[in-house]
Amino acid sequence: MTQRAIRYGATEDEKALYLDLVKKHGSPLLVISREKLLQQYNTLKQQLPGVALYYAIKAFPYPAIIEILDKAGACFDVASAGEIDLLQAQHISGRRTIHTHPIKKDAEIRAALRGGSTTFVVDNIDELKKLLPYRQRIGVLLRVSFRSETTQIDLSRKFGCSPDSVIELVEQASALGAHIRGLSFHVGSQSTLPKAHVEAIERCSQIINDAAAINPNPMDILDIGGGFPVSYNFEDMDNEAYFTPIREAIKQYVPDGIRVIAEPGRYLIAPAVTAISSVSGKAKRGDYQWYYLDDGVYGSYSGQIFDHACYPLQILNDEAQREVAILAGPTCDSIDIIAEDIELPKLEEGDLVIGHMMGAYTYATSTQFNSLSGASIIVI
Ligand SMILES: Cc1ncc(COP(=O)(O)O)c(C=O)c1O
Repeated sequence: MTQRAIRYGATEDEKALYLDLVKKHGSPLLVISREKLLQQYNTLKQQLPGVALYYAIKAFPYPAIIEILDKAGACFDVASAGEIDLLQAQHISGRRTIHTHPIKKDAEIRAALRGGSTTFVVDNIDELKKLLPYRQRIGVLLRVSFRSETTQIDLSRKFGCSPDSVIELVEQASALGAHIRGLSFHVGSQSTLPKAHVEAIERCSQIINDAAAINPNPMDILDIGGGFPVSYNFEDMDNEAYFTPIREAIKQYVPDGIRVIAEPGRYLIAPAVTAISSVSGKAKRGDYQWYYLDDGVYGSYSGQIFDHACYPLQILNDEAQREVAILAGPTCDSIDIIAEDIELPKLEEGDLVIGHMMGAYTYATSTQFNSLSGASIIVI
């Protein structure tokens, strides 16, 4: 099990900021930092020059995030009609999207076409056949399955064709009158070593070259997916060490004339969001001091269940005297526990608990269980 990172204490500026935000907006809160989001976007642009970035909206589907990234020049990865609606509400052209869900109903395809999407992903012939009626208006990518040994969230079992089957699928597509414009992959989310991307880029590049030999219409897109990791332990990520091998693999293996794109979700948004919750009540049960917060795993901390994340926590009080405690969420369910067996200084009702790196797959998977309205979202 991942070790929980806890920071005790805060600078006076941090304390003032958190207290002021709660005074103005109440608790619980999810605070989006415009500056941090742009910093993540610009770092990724620098680390992967020439790679077009399509923000994976599913990570945190929220208008202000879309607006900030839109102004910064990002494109968008969509996987449902609802995500397309979010873009349309901001008059963002569907031409700046890629529809990445490999399995979809015709109604979803039509909604995406109405929204202006022109690039779609499939991973088998039955799904390709669904796109045939629209083939004059769209480009199709084939999703190939690769698994990162270090990934926290495996996506290779549910989606993607095997690398060995690509050429046959390209031939079948061609026999049906459809053109495969490129390949896509996703090595899994929170893939902590660059090796998975490097190997997938090398293999896809070989396949693109092999396909060119049998296909008069060569491929021109390679989508290297998301999966880029963030640090959940208060340590700065070594971007240079992580991205250099990926950058070099693109340079070394990807054939000329191929447009490389990526679909980052977590890397862009995780560090840009901070959760602020407060103690609603407490109880001593056996050896444990329980603190009940106004946010939990049915709310912003839902990623602890669905995303296997272990968010770093900050307690503003840095008193050295601590006791073994449990931080629980506000619902009536006993699974709603954020952290167990952690050392905490004495907390009082109203004290704040801060969750860091809370942007990816948090709000996105939160529920209204117990009819709780959940954290308010603000942008600073
Ligand atoms: C197709 C696709 N693209 C992009 C992403 C974003 O991945 P990440 O958040 O790891 O960057 C996901 C995540 O599930 C995905 O399924």
